[in-house]
Amino acid sequence: MNYSQMRESLLNLKNEAIALISDTKGQKELERLRVVYLGRKGKVNKLASGIKTLIDSQKKEFGLLLNDTKSAIQQSLKVEAKRISEQREGDWLDVTLPSKHLPLGHLHPVTLAIKEVARIFERIGFTRVRYPEVEWDWFAFESLNMPQGHPARDEWETFFIDAPSHSKYGALVLTPHTSSGQVREMHRLKPPIRMINIAKCYRRQQDVTHTIMFHQFEGLVIDVGISIQHLKGTIDHFAKEFYGKGVTSRLRPSHFQFTEPSFEVDFSCTICEGTGKRKTGKRCRYCKSGWHEVAGAGMVHPQVLKAGGIDPEEYTGFAFGMGVERAYTLKPGLKLDDIRLIYQNDLRLLEQF
Ligand code: DAH
Repeated sequence: MNYSQMRESLLNLKNEAIALISDTKGQKELERLRVVYLGRKGKVNKLASGIKTLIDSQKKEFGLLLNDTKSAIQQSLKVEAKRISEQREGDWLDVTLPSKHLPLGHLHPVTLAIKEVARIFERIGFTRVRYPEVEWDWFAFESLNMPQGHPARDEWETFFIDAPSHSKYGALVLTPHTSSGQVREMHRLKPPIRMINIAKCYRRQQDVTHTIMFHQFEGLVIDVGISIQHLKGTIDHFAKEFYGKGVTSRLRPSHFQFTEPSFEVDFSCTICEGTGKRKTGKRCRYCKSGWHEVAGAGMVHPQVLKAGGIDPEEYTGFAFGMGVERAYTLKPGLKLDDIRLIYQNDLRLLEQF
Protein backbone atom coordinates (compact mmCIF):
# COMPACT_ATOMS: atom_id res chain seq x y z
CA MET A 1 0.00 0.00 0.00
CA ASN A 2 1.53 3.31 -0.96
CA TYR A 3 1.13 6.47 1.10
CA SER A 4 -1.85 7.89 -0.76
CA GLN A 5 -3.65 4.53 -0.53
CA MET A 6 -2.94 4.50 3.21
CA ARG A 7 -4.36 8.00 3.59
CA GLU A 8 -7.48 7.03 1.66
CA SER A 9 -7.96 3.87 3.72
CA LEU A 10 -7.67 5.90 6.91
CA LEU A 11 -10.32 8.36 5.72
CA ASN A 12 -12.65 5.52 4.71
CA LEU A 13 -12.11 3.88 8.07
CA LYS A 14 -13.05 7.06 9.86
CA ASN A 15 -16.23 7.55 7.81
CA GLU A 16 -17.20 3.91 8.14
CA ALA A 17 -16.67 3.95 11.93
CA ILE A 18 -18.68 7.15 12.44
CA ALA A 19 -21.53 5.84 10.26
CA LEU A 20 -21.74 2.55 12.16
CA ILE A 21 -21.44 4.22 15.56
CA SER A 22 -24.26 6.65 14.87
CA ASP A 23 -26.44 3.71 13.96
CA THR A 24 -25.96 1.70 17.14
CA LYS A 25 -28.90 0.80 19.40
CA GLY A 26 -27.19 -0.05 22.65
CA GLN A 27 -24.10 0.28 24.82
CA LYS A 28 -22.94 -3.28 24.07
CA GLU A 29 -22.82 -2.71 20.34
CA LEU A 30 -21.00 0.56 20.94
CA GLU A 31 -18.38 -1.23 23.02
CA ARG A 32 -17.94 -3.82 20.30
CA LEU A 33 -17.37 -1.07 17.70
CA ARG A 34 -14.87 0.64 19.99
CA VAL A 35 -12.87 -2.58 20.12
CA VAL A 36 -13.17 -3.14 16.34
CA TYR A 37 -11.80 0.34 15.50
CA LEU A 38 -9.79 1.57 18.47
CA GLY A 39 -8.84 -1.69 20.23
CA ARG A 40 -5.21 -2.81 20.51
CA LYS A 41 -5.68 -5.11 17.50
CA GLY A 42 -8.28 -2.84 15.94
CA LYS A 43 -8.54 -1.46 12.43
CA VAL A 44 -6.92 1.87 13.21
CA ASN A 45 -3.89 0.28 14.83
CA LYS A 46 -3.61 -2.11 11.92
CA LEU A 47 -3.29 0.79 9.50
CA ALA A 48 -0.96 2.57 11.93
CA SER A 49 1.45 -0.32 11.75
CA GLY A 50 2.11 0.61 8.11
CA ILE A 51 3.75 3.82 9.29
CA LYS A 52 7.12 2.00 9.42
CA THR A 53 7.20 1.88 5.61
CA LEU A 54 6.90 5.67 5.22
CA ILE A 55 9.59 8.28 4.89
CA ASP A 56 10.01 10.77 7.77
CA SER A 57 7.96 13.66 6.37
CA GLN A 58 5.10 11.26 5.56
CA LYS A 59 5.39 9.62 9.01
CA LYS A 60 4.73 12.94 10.67
CA GLU A 61 1.76 13.77 8.49
CA PHE A 62 0.27 10.28 8.77
CA GLY A 63 0.74 10.41 12.57
CA LEU A 64 -1.34 13.57 12.71
CA LEU A 65 -4.00 11.98 10.50
CA LEU A 66 -4.08 8.93 12.77
CA ASN A 67 -4.56 11.09 15.87
CA ASP A 68 -7.28 13.03 14.13
CA THR A 69 -9.07 9.80 13.11
CA LYS A 70 -8.84 8.35 16.62
CA SER A 71 -10.21 11.45 18.28
CA ALA A 72 -13.02 11.74 15.71
CA ILE A 73 -14.05 8.12 16.41
CA GLN A 74 -13.71 8.65 20.16
CA GLN A 75 -15.82 11.78 20.01
CA SER A 76 -18.54 10.03 18.07
CA LEU A 77 -18.50 7.09 20.55
CA LYS A 78 -18.95 9.58 23.38
CA VAL A 79 -21.85 11.42 21.75
CA GLU A 80 -23.57 8.17 20.94
CA ALA A 81 -23.12 6.74 24.44
CA LYS A 82 -24.72 9.85 25.88
CA ARG A 83 -27.65 9.67 23.46
CA ILE A 84 -28.28 6.01 24.30
CA SER A 85 -28.19 6.60 28.06
CA GLU A 86 -30.54 9.56 27.77
CA GLN A 87 -32.96 7.53 25.71
CA ARG A 88 -32.85 4.86 28.39
CA GLU A 89 -33.62 7.42 31.06
CA GLY A 90 -36.63 8.65 29.09
CA ASP A 91 -38.05 5.15 28.92
CA TRP A 92 -37.16 4.31 32.47
CA LEU A 93 -40.00 4.15 34.95
CA ASP A 94 -39.18 3.80 38.61
CA VAL A 95 -42.43 2.65 40.14
CA THR A 96 -41.04 3.02 43.65
CA LEU A 97 -40.59 6.81 43.35
CA PRO A 98 -43.12 8.86 45.36
CA SER A 99 -45.78 10.29 43.04
CA LYS A 100 -46.31 13.97 42.33
CA HIS A 101 -48.63 15.51 44.90
CA LEU A 102 -51.59 17.19 43.24
CA PRO A 103 -53.57 19.50 45.50
CA LEU A 104 -56.99 18.01 46.17
CA GLY A 105 -60.00 20.20 46.90
CA HIS A 106 -63.07 19.37 48.92
CA LEU A 107 -66.72 20.35 49.04
CA HIS A 108 -67.61 23.88 50.11
CA PRO A 109 -68.50 24.12 53.82
CA VAL A 110 -72.08 25.13 52.98
CA THR A 111 -72.46 22.06 50.75
CA LEU A 112 -71.12 19.92 53.58
CA ALA A 113 -73.63 21.48 55.98
CA ILE A 114 -76.51 20.89 53.55
CA LYS A 115 -75.53 17.24 53.17
CA GLU A 116 -75.38 16.83 56.92
CA VAL A 117 -78.77 18.50 57.46
CA ALA A 118 -80.35 16.36 54.75
CA ARG A 119 -78.89 13.18 56.24
CA ILE A 120 -80.18 13.98 59.74
CA PHE A 121 -83.74 14.51 58.53
CA GLU A 122 -83.76 11.69 56.00
CA ARG A 123 -82.85 9.28 58.78
CA ILE A 124 -86.09 10.16 60.59
CA GLY A 125 -88.28 9.77 57.53
CA PHE A 126 -88.19 13.20 55.87
CA THR A 127 -87.87 13.45 52.09
CA ARG A 128 -85.62 16.10 50.60
CA VAL A 129 -87.33 18.14 47.90
CA ARG A 130 -86.38 21.08 45.66
CA TYR A 131 -88.66 23.84 44.51
CA PRO A 132 -88.10 26.81 42.16
CA GLU A 133 -85.59 29.47 43.09
CA VAL A 134 -87.46 31.90 40.85
CA GLU A 135 -90.92 31.65 42.34
CA TRP A 136 -94.40 33.13 41.97
CA ASP A 137 -95.50 35.67 44.56
CA TRP A 138 -98.46 33.43 45.38
CA PHE A 139 -96.29 30.58 46.71
CA ALA A 140 -93.84 32.91 48.47
CA PHE A 141 -96.50 35.11 50.16
CA GLU A 142 -100.16 34.92 49.25
CA SER A 143 -100.66 31.20 49.95
CA LEU A 144 -98.78 31.70 53.23
CA ASN A 145 -101.51 34.01 54.46
CA MET A 146 -99.78 37.22 53.38
CA PRO A 147 -102.09 38.87 50.85
CA GLN A 148 -100.96 41.71 48.56
CA GLY A 149 -100.06 44.80 50.56
CA HIS A 150 -99.89 42.95 53.88
CA PRO A 151 -97.33 44.66 56.14
CA ALA A 152 -95.77 41.30 57.20
CA ARG A 153 -94.29 41.06 53.70
CA ASP A 154 -91.89 43.89 54.57
CA GLU A 155 -89.75 41.52 56.61
CA TRP A 156 -88.77 39.64 53.46
CA GLU A 157 -86.69 42.18 51.55
CA THR A 158 -87.73 40.67 48.25
CA PHE A 159 -86.17 40.88 44.78
CA PHE A 160 -88.86 41.14 42.13
CA ILE A 161 -88.20 39.91 38.60
CA ASP A 162 -88.96 42.32 35.80
CA ALA A 163 -91.28 39.93 33.92
CA PRO A 164 -95.00 39.70 33.12
CA SER A 165 -97.17 38.61 36.05
CA HIS A 166 -99.13 35.35 36.15
CA SER A 167 -102.90 35.86 36.12
CA LYS A 168 -103.36 33.67 39.22
CA TYR A 169 -99.92 33.55 40.89
CA GLY A 170 -98.90 37.21 40.45
CA ALA A 171 -95.34 38.56 40.10
CA LEU A 172 -92.12 36.57 39.83
CA VAL A 173 -89.70 36.85 42.75
CA LEU A 174 -86.39 35.35 43.81
CA THR A 175 -87.66 33.16 46.58
CA PRO A 176 -86.94 34.95 49.89
CA HIS A 177 -87.49 31.84 52.05
CA THR A 178 -87.94 28.10 51.71
CA SER A 179 -91.48 28.40 53.12
CA SER A 180 -92.52 28.89 49.49
CA GLY A 181 -92.12 25.11 49.17
CA GLN A 182 -94.81 24.37 51.78
CA VAL A 183 -97.89 24.78 49.58
CA ARG A 184 -96.06 23.33 46.57
CA GLU A 185 -95.46 20.17 48.63
CA MET A 186 -99.13 20.06 49.67
CA HIS A 187 -100.08 20.27 45.99
CA ARG A 188 -97.70 17.42 45.18
CA LEU A 189 -98.73 15.04 47.98
CA LYS A 190 -101.64 14.08 50.17
CA PRO A 191 -100.75 13.74 53.89
CA PRO A 192 -98.79 12.21 55.51
CA ILE A 193 -96.16 14.79 54.48
CA ARG A 194 -92.63 14.88 55.85
CA MET A 195 -90.68 17.36 53.75
CA ILE A 196 -87.23 18.87 54.09
CA ASN A 197 -86.75 21.63 51.52
CA ILE A 198 -83.17 22.94 51.35
CA ALA A 199 -82.61 25.78 48.90
CA LYS A 200 -81.03 29.09 47.99
CA CYS A 201 -82.92 32.17 49.14
CA TYR A 202 -82.43 35.84 48.28
CA ARG A 203 -83.03 39.06 50.19
CA ARG A 204 -81.92 42.65 49.74
CA GLN A 205 -79.78 42.63 52.83
CA GLN A 206 -76.01 42.46 53.22
CA ASP A 207 -73.99 42.91 56.41
CA VAL A 208 -71.89 40.85 58.83
CA THR A 209 -74.77 38.48 59.55
CA HIS A 210 -76.47 38.51 56.12
CA THR A 211 -75.56 37.70 52.54
CA ILE A 212 -77.89 38.51 49.62
CA MET A 213 -77.90 34.85 48.64
CA PHE A 214 -78.11 32.35 51.49
CA HIS A 215 -79.61 28.94 52.20
CA GLN A 216 -82.49 27.79 54.33
CA PHE A 217 -83.90 24.42 55.24
CA GLU A 218 -87.59 24.09 55.80
CA GLY A 219 -89.27 21.22 57.55
CA LEU A 220 -92.95 20.49 57.06
CA VAL A 221 -94.89 17.65 58.66
CA ILE A 222 -98.63 17.17 58.12
CA ASP A 223 -100.67 14.24 59.34
CA VAL A 224 -103.55 13.38 61.63
CA GLY A 225 -102.87 14.45 65.22
CA ILE A 226 -99.59 16.36 64.72
CA SER A 227 -98.91 18.61 67.71
CA ILE A 228 -96.35 21.02 69.14
CA GLN A 229 -94.70 18.09 70.92
CA HIS A 230 -93.75 16.64 67.55
CA LEU A 231 -92.27 19.98 66.56
CA LYS A 232 -90.28 20.28 69.78
CA GLY A 233 -89.06 16.67 69.58
CA THR A 234 -87.94 17.07 65.98
CA ILE A 235 -86.09 20.33 66.65
CA ASP A 236 -84.40 18.83 69.73
CA HIS A 237 -83.36 15.78 67.75
CA PHE A 238 -81.79 17.99 65.09
CA ALA A 239 -79.94 20.07 67.70
CA LYS A 240 -78.40 16.97 69.28
CA GLU A 241 -77.43 15.40 65.96
CA PHE A 242 -76.00 18.56 64.44
CA TYR A 243 -74.26 20.12 67.45
CA GLY A 244 -73.84 17.32 69.98
CA LYS A 245 -75.70 15.48 72.71
CA GLY A 246 -75.60 18.28 75.30
CA VAL A 247 -77.50 20.80 73.17
CA THR A 248 -81.21 21.46 73.72
CA SER A 249 -83.75 23.80 72.18
CA ARG A 250 -86.40 26.13 73.50
CA LEU A 251 -89.43 27.68 71.85
CA ARG A 252 -90.39 31.31 72.47
CA PRO A 253 -93.74 32.78 71.38
CA SER A 254 -93.51 34.81 68.19
CA HIS A 255 -95.57 35.71 65.17
CA PHE A 256 -95.62 34.50 61.59
CA GLN A 257 -98.59 34.85 59.28
CA PHE A 258 -98.35 31.22 58.17
CA THR A 259 -98.22 29.53 61.58
CA GLU A 260 -100.48 29.62 64.61
CA PRO A 261 -99.13 29.46 67.23
CA SER A 262 -95.69 30.67 66.10
CA PHE A 263 -92.30 30.39 67.79
CA GLU A 264 -88.73 31.51 67.66
CA VAL A 265 -86.42 28.54 68.16
CA ASP A 266 -83.27 28.92 70.28
CA PHE A 267 -80.46 26.38 70.74
CA SER A 268 -78.45 26.24 73.94
CA CYS A 269 -74.92 27.62 73.55
CA THR A 270 -72.31 24.91 72.98
CA ILE A 271 -69.65 26.96 74.76
CA CYS A 272 -71.37 27.80 78.09
CA GLU A 273 -74.00 25.00 77.92
CA GLY A 274 -76.92 27.36 78.14
CA THR A 275 -75.86 29.08 81.34
CA GLY A 276 -74.64 32.33 79.76
CA LYS A 277 -71.61 32.16 82.04
CA ARG A 278 -68.14 30.71 81.63
CA LYS A 279 -66.59 28.57 84.36
CA THR A 280 -64.66 31.63 85.50
CA GLY A 281 -68.01 33.30 86.31
CA LYS A 282 -67.62 35.75 83.41
CA ARG A 283 -70.39 36.29 80.91
CA CYS A 284 -70.18 34.01 77.82
CA ARG A 285 -69.08 36.25 74.97
CA TYR A 286 -70.18 33.74 72.38
CA CYS A 287 -73.92 33.86 73.13
CA LYS A 288 -74.32 36.52 75.85
CA SER A 289 -77.46 34.83 77.22
CA GLY A 290 -76.90 31.07 77.03
CA TRP A 291 -79.00 30.72 73.87
CA HIS A 292 -78.73 31.33 70.11
CA GLU A 293 -81.76 32.28 68.06
CA VAL A 294 -81.72 30.06 64.99
CA ALA A 295 -85.13 29.42 63.51
CA GLY A 296 -88.77 30.29 63.07
CA ALA A 297 -91.40 27.62 63.57
CA GLY A 298 -95.01 26.91 64.40
CA MET A 299 -98.16 24.94 63.72
CA VAL A 300 -99.24 25.35 60.10
CA HIS A 301 -102.01 27.97 59.84
CA PRO A 302 -105.41 26.58 58.73
CA GLN A 303 -105.45 29.11 55.88
CA VAL A 304 -102.18 27.66 54.57
CA LEU A 305 -103.52 24.10 54.75
CA LYS A 306 -106.56 25.27 52.80
CA ALA A 307 -104.36 26.92 50.16
CA GLY A 308 -102.65 23.53 49.81
CA GLY A 309 -106.01 21.74 49.39
CA ILE A 310 -105.81 20.05 52.82
CA ASP A 311 -108.75 20.00 55.25
CA PRO A 312 -107.67 21.71 58.51
CA GLU A 313 -110.46 19.90 60.35
CA GLU A 314 -108.84 16.58 59.56
CA TYR A 315 -105.13 17.35 59.51
CA THR A 316 -102.67 19.42 61.48
CA GLY A 317 -99.00 20.10 60.84
CA PHE A 318 -95.88 21.84 62.00
CA ALA A 319 -93.23 23.75 60.08
CA PHE A 320 -89.87 25.31 60.76
CA GLY A 321 -87.32 27.27 58.77
CA MET A 322 -83.62 27.77 59.53
CA GLY A 323 -80.66 29.45 57.86
CA VAL A 324 -77.98 26.93 56.82
CA GLU A 325 -75.09 29.40 57.12
CA ARG A 326 -76.28 30.60 60.51
CA ALA A 327 -76.86 27.09 61.85
CA TYR A 328 -73.48 25.98 60.56
CA THR A 329 -71.44 28.87 61.94
CA LEU A 330 -72.83 28.16 65.41
CA LYS A 331 -71.05 24.83 65.49
CA PRO A 332 -68.52 24.60 68.33
CA GLY A 333 -65.17 26.08 67.38
CA LEU A 334 -66.52 27.73 64.25
CA LYS A 335 -66.94 31.31 65.34
CA LEU A 336 -67.12 33.40 62.16
CA ASP A 337 -67.43 37.08 62.91
CA ASP A 338 -68.48 37.89 59.37
CA ILE A 339 -70.79 35.45 57.57
CA ARG A 340 -69.93 37.05 54.20
CA LEU A 341 -66.48 35.40 54.35
CA ILE A 342 -68.10 32.09 53.42
CA TYR A 343 -68.76 33.34 49.90
CA GLN A 344 -65.53 35.19 49.19
CA ASN A 345 -63.70 32.11 47.88
CA ASP A 346 -60.67 32.83 50.01
CA LEU A 347 -58.73 29.57 50.20
CA ARG A 348 -57.16 30.59 53.51
CA LEU A 349 -60.63 30.27 55.00
CA LEU A 350 -62.07 27.43 52.90
CA GLU A 351 -59.06 25.15 53.38
CA GLN A 352 -59.77 25.10 57.12
CA PHE A 353 -62.92 23.04 56.67
N1 DAH B 1 -89.79 31.56 56.51
C1 DAH B 1 -89.37 32.20 57.72
C2 DAH B 1 -88.22 33.13 57.44
O1 DAH B 1 -87.65 33.07 56.44
C3 DAH B 1 -88.95 31.21 58.76
C4 DAH B 1 -90.09 30.36 59.24
C5 DAH B 1 -90.86 30.74 60.28
C6 DAH B 1 -90.34 29.18 58.60
C7 DAH B 1 -91.90 29.97 60.73
C8 DAH B 1 -91.39 28.36 59.06
C9 DAH B 1 -92.15 28.78 60.13
O2 DAH B 1 -91.68 27.21 58.48
O3 DAH B 1 -93.14 27.98 60.56
O4 DAH B 1 -87.85 33.91 58.22
